[in-house]
Amino acid sequence: SNGSQKTPLTLAFEAVNGSRTDAVVVPEGYMAQVLVPWGTPLSAGDSWQPDQPMTAERQAASVGMHHDGMDAFPLDTDSASRRFILALNNEYIDQAALWAPQGGPTNADEGERPAEESRTEINAHGVTIVEVEKDASGQWAHVPGSRYNRRFTSATAMDLAGPVAGSDYVKTRFSPAGTQTRGTNNNCGHGITPWGTYIACEENWPNVFVHTGERFQDDARIGIPTERGRYAWETSAGDASEENDEFARFNITPRGERAEDDYRNEARTFGYQVEIDPYSDALAVKRTALGRFRHEGCWLGKLEAGQPIVYYSGHDARNEYVYKYVSDAAWDPADANRPGERYDRLAIGNKYMDNGTLYAARFHADGSGEWLPLTPDAQTRDGRTLAAALGLAENDLAGVIINTCDAADLMGATPMDRPEWATVDPASGEVYLTLTNNSQRSDSDSEPTFTNDGDEVAQVGVGYETAPTNAANPRANNGAGHIVRWRESRLPNAFSWEVFVFGAAADDAENLSGLTEMNQFASPDGLWFDERGDGQGILWIETDNGYEGVAEYTNDQVLAVVPGALDAISGTGPVVNNSNQQQLKRFAVGPNGCEVTGIFTTPDKTALFINIQHPSNWPADGSALIQDATVATSGQVRPRASTVVIQKRDGGPVGV
Ligand code: FEO
Ligand code: CA
Ligand code: CA
Ligand code: CA
Repeated sequence: SNGSQKTPLTLAFEAVNGSRTDAVVVPEGYMAQVLVPWGTPLSAGDSWQPDQPMTAERQAASVGMHHDGMDAFPLDTDSASRRFILALNNEYIDQAALWAPQGGPTNADEGERPAEESRTEINAHGVTIVEVEKDASGQWAHVPGSRYNRRFTSATAMDLAGPVAGSDYVKTRFSPAGTQTRGTNNNCGHGITPWGTYIACEENWPNVFVHTGERFQDDARIGIPTERGRYAWETSAGDASEENDEFARFNITPRGERAEDDYRNEARTFGYQVEIDPYSDALAVKRTALGRFRHEGCWLGKLEAGQPIVYYSGHDARNEYVYKYVSDAAWDPADANRPGERYDRLAIGNKYMDNGTLYAARFHADGSGEWLPLTPDAQTRDGRTLAAALGLAENDLAGVIINTCDAADLMGATPMDRPEWATVDPASGEVYLTLTNNSQRSDSDSEPTFTNDGDEVAQVGVGYETAPTNAANPRANNGAGHIVRWRESRLPNAFSWEVFVFGAAADDAENLSGLTEMNQFASPDGLWFDERGDGQGILWIETDNGYEGVAEYTNDQVLAVVPGALDAISGTGPVVNNSNQQQLKRFAVGPNGCEVTGIFTTPDKTALFINIQHPSNWPADGSALIQDATVATSGQVRPRASTVVIQKRDGGPVGV
C-alpha cells in the first residue's frame, strides 16, 4: 500500500494504573467478563458448584485447569466474530483449589497418591475444545452439549507422526509399533495452522515422569526427576506393577528386557507439538519433526504461496534455545481452512509438518544471526557430523530429534534468557520473542558452568547451568526480561535482530527502555501481533512476573504497543526507548496471584480474549459484563483459572 496514505495506528485508550486487587482491571469505557472457568461442565444440564468435589469422570467432561494458550476456530465466515470453537490449553493444576472440599491433595509430598486423585489431576491437564457464542446483549457464554465440545487429557490416546514415529525410541508396552502414546501434558503456548488446526505445545512435561535408575542421555539433559514426579502419579500404581500401566507408565525406569515390555520410552513420546483438528473427532497427532524439548509455543512464520511453512518455537528453560522448523512442502493456498467443514485436515498436516528441517538460532554480537541445521550430517563446531557427535547411526534423524537439546548444544546455538512466546507480523514477517528472565545469567567475564556434572557443553547429556551474558541476552541475572525481534535475511539461514524493549521497574538503575510507572513491566511471556491493516498492528504483551520492583506496584498485566518502522534493524537496541516509550501502554491488570496469558481478538476486533492463570482469590460469582473491572472478590473464594473477554462499551474495536 502507499505509505503516504496510511492512517497511523494510535492506541486510544487511557492507560490503567497498576492494581493489586482480586479483579481484572480494564480501561475506562471497557467491560470484562469471565468465560469458561475451570470446572465448567461441557455437557448440557449440569453446572459448577463452588464446593463441587471434583471427580475423574466429572473433570474429563469439564473445562480443564490453568488456561494458557488458546485460539478461535470459526464455523463460518459470517458468524466468526460472535460464534466459534475455542481451543484452550490447560497447562497445569492448583492442587489446593482442585481438592479444596477435601482439604487438599492426599500424599502430595510422600507416600502413595490415591488412584482417583491422580486420575482426576491427569484429566485436569491437556486441552479443552468448547463452542462459545455472544448473545444480543454482548454477553459471551459456552454452548453446553455442542458437538464440538471435547477434552484431551494426559491420558487421551494420540498418534505419533514424523521422523520419530515407528522408531525404536518410542516403542512402548502401550504401542509396541511406536506409533501411538497416551496424553499430552503441560500445554503452555499454542499455534495455529493455515489449514484450520490447533497446535498444543508440550512444555514442562518432564516433571510428571520419574527415572530412578541409571539415567538416559536425553532424560538427564531434559531434566526428568530422579525420585518422585511432580504430582507423583506413578505412585498410584502401588508397587509400580506393570499390570497397572495407567500410572506405572510415568515411571520410566526400565524393568523388563525389551522396551516393548515396559515404559522406558514413555517420556520419549512427549516434548512435541501436538496437532488437533477442532472441527472433527480425529485423534490428536504429535508432530515429531518440529523437535523434542520444552516447547513454549509454535509460532507460524510469514505465510507465502509457493514458500515453505515456517514455525518458530522457544525452549522455555534457563539458557536454552530458539528453534525454527522449515517444511519441505511449499504452501499451497488450496489447502487453506474451510471453516466449519468436516474433512481430513490432519492429512494436510502430514504434508507440511512431517517432513522438514529443524534449526537452532545463533545470535551474533553484530546484529546478525544464523540458523544452525539439526540434521544428522550437519557439521558440529568440532568438525564431526551431528549424528557421530551424538553417538548415533549415520542417518538417524529420529535420534537427532529425541536429543534435540544436545544437538543444539553441539551446533553452538545461543543460550537464551528463557524463550517464551513469539509472534510474527504477517505483513513484514518480522518475529518478536519474549525472553522472560534468567536467574542463571552470569557476568560477561565469567566462565559458563554445565549441568549433569558435565565440564563442557559439547558433551552430550549436559546443558548450560549458567551462561555469561551475550549480545542478545545482555543483562546478568536478568530479572525483568526483554523482547527481541528479528527479520529473516535473503541469504540462506541468516537473520538480523535487535532488542525491542527491556522490562524494568521505573526506578531501576538499569531501566534501559525508559519505562515509567504507567508502563513498567517485567517477565514478558504472552505476545501477539494483532494485525490492524495497512501493514500496521498492535503488539500485545502479557506478563508472568515475580520481579520485585514491579510486583509491589502491580499484578501481572497486558500492555499494548504499536511497533515503529522496522527499517532500522541494527543489533543495537533497545528500539523502545525514552523517545518513543509513550507508545507502550498498560491495557489491563489481572487479579492477585495470577499470570496473564493466552490472547486473540475476534476478526472484527471488538472482543479481546485473555486468560487468567493461577489466580489466588478470583473470580467472584457473577460473570456479567462489568465496566472497568470484573467483579472484585470479597472474602475468600475457591480460585479458578478462566478466560476473560474484554469489550468496549460502545462495541467498537479494542485498543484503538
Ligand atoms: Fe508455561 Fe514458559 O510458560
Ligand atoms: Ca508462558
Ligand atoms: Ca512464564
Ligand atoms: Ca504458566
